[in-house]
Amino acid sequence: MKGIVLAGGAGTRLRPLTYVTSKQLLPVYNRPMVFYPIQTLIDAGITEILLIIAPKNAGDFLNLLGNGDKFGCKFSYEVQPHPDGLAQAFIIGERFIGDDNVTLILGDNLFEHNFTPEIQSFKSGGRIFAKQVADPKRFGVVAFDKNNRVTSIEEKPEQPKSNYAIPGLYIFDNTVVAKAKKIKPSARGELEIVDVHKAYLREKTLDVRVIDGKWYDCGTFESLFEASDLVRAKALKKQPLIAKQEL
Ligand code: DAU
Repeated sequence: MKGIVLAGGAGTRLRPLTYVTSKQLLPVYNRPMVFYPIQTLIDAGITEILLIIAPKNAGDFLNLLGNGDKFGCKFSYEVQPHPDGLAQAFIIGERFIGDDNVTLILGDNLFEHNFTPEIQSFKSGGRIFAKQVADPKRFGVVAFDKNNRVTSIEEKPEQPKSNYAIPGLYIFDNTVVAKAKKIKPSARGELEIVDVHKAYLREKTLDVRVIDGKWYDCGTFESLFEASDLVRAKALKKQPLIAKQEL
């Protein structure tokens, strides 16, 4: 299993914080934001990690993260010239993925949930997650019938059919590269990750699991603040999200 951290994008919703740096380099309490998704992958045993970054702050990511030695990992980098959508990560990452399966995590997603069992038991198809939220309109939304079968997947629906958001960690088999290549840009001009989910759904190989624990996407001032608050609270309780002192 290889890992990709998608940490490009323009961070427009967090201006003026993001005028001179990337959203994923902003502090979440005592660590740069991107450390948390990296740690989520490491906790699940993934050591080969590709970071996809925007050209503007590429040097800062390299200075901060280097070759991955201090994380006990091997880091590679690719630049995404424009924020053309989450699913583009699999096209940019094609060579890195090679013949392996891949877990994609968004560089601004912070999870309390431990994904080790879901990542380590993964064999094939697609495995995504669902988390109940108060404001589903901000996210990809999945709805289920009474037998827990998926009935719809929509990106930021005006009228969500459920309050289950799809968080930014996705586990896919190697066919994801071919699936991503077939996706056409949406009305907002992006290669949408929900179209990847739908491709697996059509093949009846999509597994959706409800997760527990707190989850933040750190994409708004409110969620950035709440994420910092969670990290601080856990550090004070001596249950830090990142245990390694030197990180
Ligand atoms: O956070 C989970 C949500 O992330 C999912 O529920 C949605 O289905 C998914 O589309 C995505 O929605 P967002 O509106 O939160 O995506 P955003 O544009 O904020 O991008 C998420 C992260 O990915 C962010 O750290 C920036 C980065 N990014 C985004 C795009 C569009 C890239 O690196 N490249 C891109 O092309």
